[in-house]
Amino acid sequence: MRNDKAQFSTRIGVVAVTVGSAVGLGNIWRFPFEAGMHGGGAFLLLNLLFVFLIGIPVICAEFIIGRNTGSNVRTAFRKLAPGEPWGAVGYIGLLSSVLIISFYSVVAGWTMEYIFRSASGFSGVHSVAGLHDQFDSFATSDWRPALWTVIFLLCNYLILVRGVEKGIEKVSNVLMPALFLILIIFAVRSLTMPAAREGLEFLFRPDFQKITPSVVLGAMGQAFFSLSLGLGGLITYASYFNRRTSLVRTAGITAGLDMLVAVLAGVIIFPAVFTFGMEPAAGPELVFEVLPSIFCNMTGSIFWSTLFFILLFLASLTSTISMSEIQIAYLMEEKGMGRRKATNVAVLIAAGLGVLCALSFGSLSGLRVFGMTLFGLFDYLASNILLPLGGMLISLFVGWRLKREIVDNELLYGRKTIFRRMVICAIMFSLRYVAPACILLVFLFGLGIF
Ligand code: PFF
Repeated sequence: MRNDKAQFSTRIGVVAVTVGSAVGLGNIWRFPFEAGMHGGGAFLLLNLLFVFLIGIPVICAEFIIGRNTGSNVRTAFRKLAPGEPWGAVGYIGLLSSVLIISFYSVVAGWTMEYIFRSASGFSGVHSVAGLHDQFDSFATSDWRPALWTVIFLLCNYLILVRGVEKGIEKVSNVLMPALFLILIIFAVRSLTMPAAREGLEFLFRPDFQKITPSVVLGAMGQAFFSLSLGLGGLITYASYFNRRTSLVRTAGITAGLDMLVAVLAGVIIFPAVFTFGMEPAAGPELVFEVLPSIFCNMTGSIFWSTLFFILLFLASLTSTISMSEIQIAYLMEEKGMGRRKATNVAVLIAAGLGVLCALSFGSLSGLRVFGMTLFGLFDYLASNILLPLGGMLISLFVGWRLKREIVDNELLYGRKTIFRRMVICAIMFSLRYVAPACILLVFLFGLGIF
């Protein structure tokens, strides 16, 4: 079964596609605005803690399941635990991926609009207030954001129909280093701004009084969202890994680079926020108002901002591709559809729900569920509830239910050094006790059950 499956061709390619899935709007758009709303340094500290304590072991768990079965998230559990209720994890993953891609595509659509706005020099508007009004009137209008959402999904479609190894690997190999480079340039610019010190203090100095149960829940949700974790995306990608890929190393590199990009985004955003007297807790629009203000204060602003939004758009694309691939692999392997038909179904569902999310800033803004717009609800439900729940079940499954020899086989592959054995013990300890207990506790407190 595994031999006729598509596989990623090089070691760099494997890391690039996994990092490509992880690095995206979650790091550059979501992390700064969540950190801004939830106390800066305290949020970052908690986020880091969750990434290393829970994130890395659960990435390994998804990799083990994916490479061992060579299957999508639903089939994988059916193969490893036939007839047992573990199969439900597959459905949780599918539902999460549908919810996330819907609101994610809206923000990716904003980045496309901003490519053109950058190229036009933001129509000559340079003031912070002017840029704020520009964003506001765009996001609350109906047809433009909705149209961009659909156009973005069309780009997604064009890569997906060509298949995993041809499209994704090539885009990711070039994109990731380019994105990294441009972020470093912006970080240097931001650090030379007058209020750089205040910005850095906000991001790096934790104020423990700001830690509330909902901040802890938010930081855990952000860790899962940013690592593309808990919904089987990494199970699906690992099903395309070859035998030589080191799962633990790939997990470590992915988590490390992912956090690095998020921190870099924070280093870019917060000095500017304080320099321009903006509100760090502005919410989803934060990045779209702060970044143009930074660009307008740089020489060659049109070049830099256009390039940045192009890279951000591409980074979003490599992330949505991995979300869609969860559904496409499922539809092909479980429902017997061809690649084109499966892609049609996945993209059409995303487009329908995506347009609703886009309108939730405009004419559907009055539609509230638990006080949240559809956009906010999809994000909260997927990131803070479904992903950690999926992650908890995946860690319990690999920790307690999966045969230990499968774990050893996937992580040791013949080289039984003491160091490797110690690493496996640490991972298993986290999967059995630390990760499930942490997630459960955060749920109980964060959701106010306790
Ligand atoms: N990790 C991506 C980001 O930070 O932008 C978002 C994401 C991608 C979530 C793929 C889930 C997923 F399956």
